[in-house]
Amino acid sequence: MRTHLCGQVTHELAGESVQLCGWVASRRDLGGLIFISLRDIAGIVQVVVEPDSACFADAEKLRNEYCVRISGEVRMRPESQWNESMATGRVEVVATAVELLNASAPLPLLMSDEDGEEIRLKHRYLDLRRPRMQRNMRIRSAMNRAIRSYLDGAGFNEFETPILTRATPEGARDYLVPSRTQPGHYFALPQSPQLFKQILMMSGMDRYYQIARCFRDEDLRADRQPEFTQLDMELSFVEEADVREVAEDLVRNLFSEVLDVALPESFPILGWREAMERYGSDKPDLRIPLELVSVDEHVAQVEFKVFSGPAADPKSRVAALRIPGGASLSRKQIDEYTEFVGRYGARGLAWIKVNDAAAGLEGLQSPIAKFLDEAAWSGIASATGAQSDDILFFGAGDWLTVSTFMGALLRKVGRDMSLLESEWAPLWVTEFPMFERDAETGRLDPLHHPFTAPVEDDAAALEANPEATLSKAYDMVLNGSEIGGGSIRIHRQDMQQAVFRLLNINEEEAREKFGFLLEALRYGCPPHGGIAFGLDRIAALMAGEDSIRDVIAFPKTTAAQCLMTGAPSEVPEEQLSDLHIQPIPED
Ligand code: AMO
Ligand code: AMP
Repeated sequence: MRTHLCGQVTHELAGESVQLCGWVASRRDLGGLIFISLRDIAGIVQVVVEPDSACFADAEKLRNEYCVRISGEVRMRPESQWNESMATGRVEVVATAVELLNASAPLPLLMSDEDGEEIRLKHRYLDLRRPRMQRNMRIRSAMNRAIRSYLDGAGFNEFETPILTRATPEGARDYLVPSRTQPGHYFALPQSPQLFKQILMMSGMDRYYQIARCFRDEDLRADRQPEFTQLDMELSFVEEADVREVAEDLVRNLFSEVLDVALPESFPILGWREAMERYGSDKPDLRIPLELVSVDEHVAQVEFKVFSGPAADPKSRVAALRIPGGASLSRKQIDEYTEFVGRYGARGLAWIKVNDAAAGLEGLQSPIAKFLDEAAWSGIASATGAQSDDILFFGAGDWLTVSTFMGALLRKVGRDMSLLESEWAPLWVTEFPMFERDAETGRLDPLHHPFTAPVEDDAAALEANPEATLSKAYDMVLNGSEIGGGSIRIHRQDMQQAVFRLLNINEEEAREKFGFLLEALRYGCPPHGGIAFGLDRIAALMAGEDSIRDVIAFPKTTAAQCLMTGAPSEVPEEQLSDLHIQPIPED
């Protein structure tokens, strides 16, 4: 039907005849001339219909989003009318024939960024026609292509794993599918292919990958969907550094292929504790050139109990954040930041404006300066590198709470003040604790998942002191977003059983839920490890989108609904009774 794609009609085709198919992005009547912006997957080209042309009457009938086929001749525009921001901006197509392939009903949306998300998702078939969405979807496709080509060349095999399966614990709720043939029994949709990929290693498959759909019924946000896509990988006979090397090389290759961006030759590695100490986050955004500094030793003796208490307590900290030039912040802005950190559990946010760094205590403006002496201030000043016109913020209290709220403040100030220094800042975060204790239930939860190996290969030591044990887990972080996570796995049955015991999974439950894994571990399981990347998150970063919904063709809303198809929906009662389900009547 066509000789070229719209976006391919460049000045090199000047003088040639072309046939194009696409949609009318806009149509303007200008003093007898009709200009049509014709759009297809490759871009937009300008079509001109002259008043004496035989197809003028056909062109007059066109409206936005009509699907058309246009024949014509490519002509150079006068140089003064070149639009260098478009690949087709130096030419126009002078139409000789306009064929209507299909008209469009009046549009329910503007087809621009001004459309609200609800209407965009409801009419996704139209929304996806927009150049921005077409570009985003093509980035995804290019990602998959680059990933497959890289991994195929690196000795990986692509295997599929079941969607109808048993629960895989990744910390979210399961989506369940009732069984018709086994009344009262349910499949769970996989939260990840974790157990299957480990079994594949036990089966000698050596290196596996899969572009896998995962399902998690959890609270949704901009970077979370109930179904999302992982690049899931597993390797046999590896240690942490081996997995990191392959994963890093893959991601570098991906950015180079898809965006022509060169990521650093090696990514920095930060231990979890250090990341929390310095950035107050387990996924720091290293584009922001700000760091938290502990000032405990300098304030341990001051009169101000809010500081001296935590400074003397090993489980607490007093952390300072220096913002160069921040003395210009108004009282109102400081109050807003105080309110902001309150949402992360802060009971206050002390601050010091440095009006004159050479004047010691005299040069400060602060509600807490009166509690400090010269020695304390000079210690703080040299630890933070405070200079005139800076502001210092302070958080004091429980180590994790302070790190977290000061980290949130660091990120917020960094963005508010446009301090981002580079475009891409990847890193690894490693040495996570194995477990965290749930404050309410007092139970231990795995920080990664229960199949992650501890740093020390000693089950007795782990059971003696689980909370102090670090794991062989690693996350890849890019621009403050966790884009991938993985670990070296437990490959011995006694260690796996020890972890289950610590998680309060008794032997019977372990056998019932993970018997196949424990069994498989008995037959010469190789040491193995892997990682899974969140492809939606990587695509969003690459496309410069804030929400992963904008890089997923048919995403769900934050209420986990698909507005286009209306899923989830009610089903006929017979279907429920086939599945042995009886709805509980609503009152
Ligand atoms: P994890 O749970 O860390 O690890 O998931 C891996 C990566 O998947 C992405 N991700 C999500 N993306 C969108 N929506 C979600 N709801 C969502 N949840 C996670 C993140 C995350 O880094 N089986 C392990 C991997 C392994 O150990 O190999 C796992 O699933 O980018
Ligand atoms: P107060 O003595 O409670 O009036 O507090 C004096 C200053 O210390 C105020 O600026 C508070 O915001 C700040 N402040 C109070 N609690 C904390 C805390 N836990 N961490 C940091 N600053 C605090």
